[in-house]
Amino acid sequence: MINIFDFNKKKAAGEKITMITCYDYTSALICDKTSIDTILVGDSLSMTMHGHPTTVQATIDVMAMHTAAVARGAKSKFIVGDLPFLSYRKSLTENVNAVQALMQAGAHAVKLEGASGNTGFIQHLADSGVPVMGHIGLTPQFVHLLGGYHVQGKTDESAKRLIEEALALQEAGCFALVLECVPSDLARTITKELKIATIGIGAGPDTDGQVLVFQDLLGLNTEFKPKFVKKYINGAQIFVDAIEEYTEEVRRGAFPDADHSFGSKKVAKAASRA
Ligand code: KIV
Repeated sequence: MINIFDFNKKKAAGEKITMITCYDYTSALICDKTSIDTILVGDSLSMTMHGHPTTVQATIDVMAMHTAAVARGAKSKFIVGDLPFLSYRKSLTENVNAVQALMQAGAHAVKLEGASGNTGFIQHLADSGVPVMGHIGLTPQFVHLLGGYHVQGKTDESAKRLIEEALALQEAGCFALVLECVPSDLARTITKELKIATIGIGAGPDTDGQVLVFQDLLGLNTEFKPKFVKKYINGAQIFVDAIEEYTEEVRRGAFPDADHSFGSKKVAKAASRA
C-alpha cells in the first residue's frame, strides 16, 4: 500500500498517480485486485449510489458507512475518505468528530473542498495526525454557489485565485490536491508551482495523477457523459445482456440446470423405493 510520501515521490519521479472512486465492498474487492494506487470514497456516492441530484445530500454517517465497506474490501489500498457538505464548516469539535468518523471507518486520509476558511482546520488535522487532500476548481459541494457544473479558472482573475488557493492548501499542510474541471494549461501551471502532487479530473494530462469515478470509467452510468470521462467498457450494456440472458433461461426452464442444483442421494433412494 502506498503512503502519503509516495505521492510526492511519484511526482518527483514523473510517475503518474492513479486513483478511482469506490463506494462498496464488492467494488472494493475488484479494485483491490488491480494495481491502482489509491481509492477515493467520494461524496459523489450521493449521486452514483443514492440517486441524489448533487453531493449536497451526503452525510457523515453515510460517508462513514461506505468508507467502512470499502476498507473491508480494499485491504491493500490507500483510502481517502471524503468529508461531506458542511461537515467541516461547524465547530472544531463537530469538524473533528466528522474526521474521526471517516478515519475510524478505515480511511487513511480525508479530502475536503475549497481553501477559504479551511486552512486553519487543515493545519489542525495535520498536527493531529490526519493527512488531508485538498480539492479546488469545480468543487461540487459549491454547485449552488457556482451556478452549476462549469469549468473553473477560465478568466485571468479566477485562474490567479485558483493558483493562490492551491498554494494556501499546500502551505496549510495538504499532502495532495484534486484539481477538478480546470483548463489544462492552468492545471499544468499549478502542478509546476506546487511541491505536493496534483490529481486531476477534467484537468488535462499534465497533473501528477488522475482520478475517475468508478461508474463513469466502467460505463455503468448511461445518463452522465461529460467531456472528461473516458468509458473503458460499456458496463451497463454488459450487465443488461447478462440479466436478460438469465431472465430468458429462467423463463424457458434452462436455469437452474443440474450443474447449478444440489443432488441428494437420500432423496434419490427414497424416490426409487416409493
Ligand atoms: O466525490 C468525488 O468523487 C470526487 C472526485 C470527483 C474527485 O470528489
